[in-house]
Amino acid sequence: MTRKIDIFDTTLRDGEQSPGASMNTEEKLVVARQLLRLNVDVIEAGFPISSPGDFESVRRIAELAGDQCTVAGLTRAVEKDIVCAADALKYAKRPRIHTGIGVSKSHIYDKLRIDEDTAVERAVKAVKCARNYVEDVQFYAEDAGRSDYDFLVRIIQAVVDAGATVVNIPDTTGYSLPEEFGQRIKYLVDNVNGIQNVKIAVHCHNDLGMATALALAGVKNGARQVECTINGLGERAGNTAMEEVVMAIRMHEEDLDAHTDINTREFIKASRLVSSITGMTVQANKAIVGSNAFAHSSGIHQDGVLKKRDTYEIIDPADVGAGQSQIVLTARSGHAALKHRLEELGYTYEGEELDKMYTAFLNLADKKKEVYDEDLESLIHERDREEEATAFTLVASQISCGFPLTPTATVTLKDANGREHTACDYGTGPVDAMYKAVNKIVDVENDLSEFSVQSVTRGIDALGEVTVRVTAANGEVYSGRGADGDIIVSSTKAYLNALNRLIAEQH
Ligand code: KIV
Ligand code: ZN
Repeated sequence: MTRKIDIFDTTLRDGEQSPGASMNTEEKLVVARQLLRLNVDVIEAGFPISSPGDFESVRRIAELAGDQCTVAGLTRAVEKDIVCAADALKYAKRPRIHTGIGVSKSHIYDKLRIDEDTAVERAVKAVKCARNYVEDVQFYAEDAGRSDYDFLVRIIQAVVDAGATVVNIPDTTGYSLPEEFGQRIKYLVDNVNGIQNVKIAVHCHNDLGMATALALAGVKNGARQVECTINGLGERAGNTAMEEVVMAIRMHEEDLDAHTDINTREFIKASRLVSSITGMTVQANKAIVGSNAFAHSSGIHQDGVLKKRDTYEIIDPADVGAGQSQIVLTARSGHAALKHRLEELGYTYEGEELDKMYTAFLNLADKKKEVYDEDLESLIHERDREEEATAFTLVASQISCGFPLTPTATVTLKDANGREHTACDYGTGPVDAMYKAVNKIVDVENDLSEFSVQSVTRGIDALGEVTVRVTAANGEVYSGRGADGDIIVSSTKAYLNALNRLIAEQH
């Protein structure tokens, strides 16, 4: 059995410190419920002394969590902070006070303006004070990533002796390299007496884009708790992302001798929830939870994934609550992807028919960034219409219109004998001008009784589908449809489709 790694979520404390990401108590409770569904081991619910709102959040989340998980409240190494946190955690079934102090030269001399002896003294006093209220006391050595190795051993030894149950080694500024950070953890394992009786936690920031790698290096070298946030939310470039570190541990369980108890199928829900509450959007290419994390758009990749998913995917999207792999149809997609998608929509195309469909698809994909299911259905219907007996087909059309121009249309149609006819006309609008030009060639009595245009998909490059109804001289009504990225072209195709039906039946 591999080592169990505790997942300590700090979305509601460090994550919330991210500029613009603040949450009110009700919102924090909604996130906390999702953290319970994820089955995290610890929820750091806030910094009680910092505001009445934070105090209230810690109090209510402690009530909510019951004995399902530990609830932690952050403090400085200051008595009044600790008393306040203890008060907020009063009704918690599994309370933890998270207290600590800066340990790098920069934090000790420049921020706190004290000396190393005083830092150790305050750390010990804080841990002892917290132990008067709760049994579970976690000590953080702020900016440990930039601290002197031997001073770090000294202060950690002192807090372990004073009764800390968890020692948190943060790379507060995201400065370290993973290998070096791992060595730092190992140094503590090798040099602090009694360290095996406490848990080492790692808390890393993403300033150099390495927060997940740092946390994993910590795990590999002896850490048994990882601190992280949903979507990597947090100060500056953020914290270790829970979804990344948990999935990496799962992928490399043997190598890291580690596992977690996280219900990974809740990741997508958690990600979307935190993003919508905080307004912090998740980049499309974000690992695990980004909208492109399981999307394939190049032909070679699509072909591979359709043959066997793991050719290009190391994680089954269902395992993180992302449903299925997505095959995104673009101009780079091949026959295999188009055939697969058409089959999913219920259409079977093979051989020459598939080639023709693929050509039509490529023409459309060249104009649009992404081809959606509705576009494909529209293409299928368009091709069915083309295959109907046609008296006239569209060869070319051109419009000039705008303010203050008079809308003028030129159209070229091919008749059933293959002869081309060109006509032009003007009208009250571009469609009117085009229909008049078509009438000059087709020359059957009809009255346009209905015209409607609809966008097939979303976006400015969507296909426009036009439906028309024309009434023949004998009162019969014929409908026609046409789809294209250019709505004047769709209008012309729709009109011709209706006229062709009229001609086929009446002549
Ligand atoms: O980054 C950090 O050092 C922290 C501590 C308060 C744990 O967030
Ligand atoms: Zn932090």
